[in-house]
Amino acid sequence: MRTTTVQIVMVSHVNGSNRLFGGQLMQWIDVTAAVEARRHAFSDVTTAAVDALEFLAPVFLNDLLVLQAEVTWTGKTSIEVRVETFREHLNGERVLVNRAYFLFVAVDNHGKPREVEPFVPRGPVQLREWDNAITRREHRLKMREEMNALAQLKNEQAFAKLKQNHDADEY
Ligand SMILES: CC(C)(COP(=O)(O)OP(=O)(O)OC[C@H]1O[C@@H](n2cnc3c(N)ncnc32)[C@H](O)[C@@H]1OP(=O)(O)O)[C@@H](O)C(=O)NCCC(=O)NCCS
Repeated sequence: MRTTTVQIVMVSHVNGSNRLFGGQLMQWIDVTAAVEARRHAFSDVTTAAVDALEFLAPVFLNDLLVLQAEVTWTGKTSIEVRVETFREHLNGERVLVNRAYFLFVAVDNHGKPREVEPFVPRGPVQLREWDNAITRREHRLKMREEMNALAQLKNEQAFAKLKQNHDADEY
């Protein structure tokens, strides 16, 4: 399956130099990717992680953008989606301006992760993407572990400081 959306860059989407805001493009990418993930999951999805977001070329006022999303990998409840964004010239020629990988989790009516149908890669490109997706997943999970450990350390430090202040107040 492939989800495609099209946008024209309007005045409200650009900065003072008539360049597209990166955040605006990220929103368009997120929506396109989420539609692709929902179509695969046949359920609601939530964005769990975004990475490998590469801005390859600038985009300007009045440019026409074509965003194409495709599932690259599935786990038990998670779905990775690649989105490629092209600037389309009036003659139809397309230039790749952004590539991004989003990780969604399929959720039930209570917001809890639910299982998805496995994606079956076909052909050398999809097989290569699948292998790369496994490497990205390992990296993401390691990052999540590190972030959680850091958050716990910060909490412990904040608690120790609170306790120190409390003990000092008692004297
Ligand atoms: C994403 C979310 C539903 C995961 O819930 P959870 O209780 O942590 O569930 P699990 O740990 O079982 O993870 C579910 C799946 O997501 C994957 N996952 C979750 N966070 C991940 C991350 N940072 N990187 C890679 N994979 C991740 C898990 O590996 C698992 O995949 P699998 O079932 O295919 O093996 C939960 O963290 C959440 O609701 N986050 C907020 C999402 C949100 O609000 N997004 C909008 C952004 S504003």
